[in-house]
Amino acid sequence: MTQESTSDATESGRIVKRAKTVIPGGAQTGLRAQAYDTGDVAFERAEDATLTTVDGDDYTDYHLGFGPIILGHAHDSVDDAARRAIDGGVLYGAGTTTLEVEVAERLVETIPSVEQVNFCNSGSEATYHAIRLARAKTGNEKILKFEGCYHGWHDYVDVSVYPPEDSLGEQYPESEGMLSSAVENTLVVPFNDSEAVEEVFREHGDDLAGVILEPVPHSVGCILPRQEFLDTLRELTEETNVPLIFDEVISGFRHSPHGAQGEFGVTPDLTCVAKALGNGYPVAAVGGREDLLSQAGGDNKSGVVISGTYSGNLPGLAAARETIDTIVEEDVQSHVTDLGEKYRDGLRDLLADHCISGRVVGHRSIFSLQFGVTDKPETYEDIFGLDEATFRDFAAGMRERGHFFTPNPYKRHHLSFAHDERHLKSYLDDADDVLANL
Ligand SMILES: Cc1ncc(COP(=O)(O)O)c(C=O)c1O
Repeated sequence: MTQESTSDATESGRIVKRAKTVIPGGAQTGLRAQAYDTGDVAFERAEDATLTTVDGDDYTDYHLGFGPIILGHAHDSVDDAARRAIDGGVLYGAGTTTLEVEVAERLVETIPSVEQVNFCNSGSEATYHAIRLARAKTGNEKILKFEGCYHGWHDYVDVSVYPPEDSLGEQYPESEGMLSSAVENTLVVPFNDSEAVEEVFREHGDDLAGVILEPVPHSVGCILPRQEFLDTLRELTEETNVPLIFDEVISGFRHSPHGAQGEFGVTPDLTCVAKALGNGYPVAAVGGREDLLSQAGGDNKSGVVISGTYSGNLPGLAAARETIDTIVEEDVQSHVTDLGEKYRDGLRDLLADHCISGRVVGHRSIFSLQFGVTDKPETYEDIFGLDEATFRDFAAGMRERGHFFTPNPYKRHHLSFAHDERHLKSYLDDADDVLANL
C-alpha cells in the first residue's frame, strides 16, 4: 500500500501516513509492513488473546508478535515480575545477579543440551554468538544451513531462506549489502535431505565450523523433520567434531520447555532460545556444552567475545523466570497442543467441505493454511505453487471478521494459553464463511 492509499478517515490511517514519512516502509521491518496488505493498521493495546487498534477495533490475535507470546498478552504474573525487577533498577552491567543465575539454572534443568548459558536480547544475537563459539572451537569458517530455515538478519545466516526457484542449491543472499565472504562461507542444502548433507561432509568436512538448523522450520509454514535426518546430522557432526546448533528460537518454550531436542530425542551441542522464553520481553540465550560456552569466559584478551550492554537486563530475565515457571507448572503445552489440533482438524474439514485445494500444516501451537498445494511438505521446494493471492484474500476476509494474522502466506498462526474453545469456534465459523466466498 502506498502513502497515498492510506486513509485519513481513521486514526490508524493517520498514524500509518506519519509512519511512512519517518520510518522506512512505515514499520520497523518489511515483514511488519506486510500487515498493511489488508489495510491501515496501528495497534495500541493487547491483552490475553486480543489485539486492539488505535481506533478501538479488537482482533483475536493469531500473530502474537511472530510467536513470543505463549501465555497471552499482558500476562499478569509475568508483567508483575518484570515490574518488580524494574523497581530495583533495570540494568547493572557488572558482576552477576541472582536472576541471571536462576534463569540459567532453569535452562540447564529443562533443555537437554544446555550445561552453560549466555544471555542476549534477540534470536539473531543468539545465532550469531553460537556460530562464533563454533568457529572458535573448530578453527574453521564454513557453516552449513538449510533452505527455508531462518536464523536472523545477520550476514552469516540470512542466506537462502526464501530462494527463488532458479536459485535453489545456490547461496542466495536475502539482502543487499551483505558481505560476500560471509555468504560464500555459508553452505546451503535442502532440509530433510541426508544425502546432500553427507555430500557436504565428504567435500567440506575438514572445513566445517558448524551445522545450524531449525529442527522444525517455521518460516515456510511448518515442516517436520524426518527422524532419520536429525539422527544423520547428529552422527556426522559427532564423528567429525563439528558443533551441531539447534536454533530453537521458535520451538524452545513454545513447543516444549525441553525444546524440539527433547521432543525428537536428538541433543545438539549448542542451542539458541528466544521468543517464548520471555513471553514478549526481549530476552534470548545461547546455551550448550560447557567446553563450547566456557570459551566465552575469558577477559576479552583471550577466548571468545560475547558482549552486549543490555544482555542480562533485569526485566527480561524476570519475565523469563516467570514464563518458564508458568509453562512448566501449568502444563501450557498440553492446552495449546490440543487446541492447535482442533484448529488444524477444523480447517482441513472446511477445505474438504468447500472443495478447495490446499493443505493445513503445523505443529502443536502453530498452524498454516496453504492454498493450491496439497502434498505434505518435507523440504523448502514443497512450498512452490502456493497460491499467495488466495491466502491474502482469506486473511483480509478473516480480518474483516475480527481475526488477525499476517497476510504473508508463508508465515503461520500462533496460539497462546489465552486462546480457548470460544476463539476456536468463532475462527472456524468465520473461516467457513470466508472460504465459501473466496
Ligand atoms: C528460528 C528463528 N531464529 C532466529 C530468529 C531471529 O530472532 P530475532 O528476530 O529475535 O532476532 C527468528 C525470528 O523470527 C526465528 O524465527
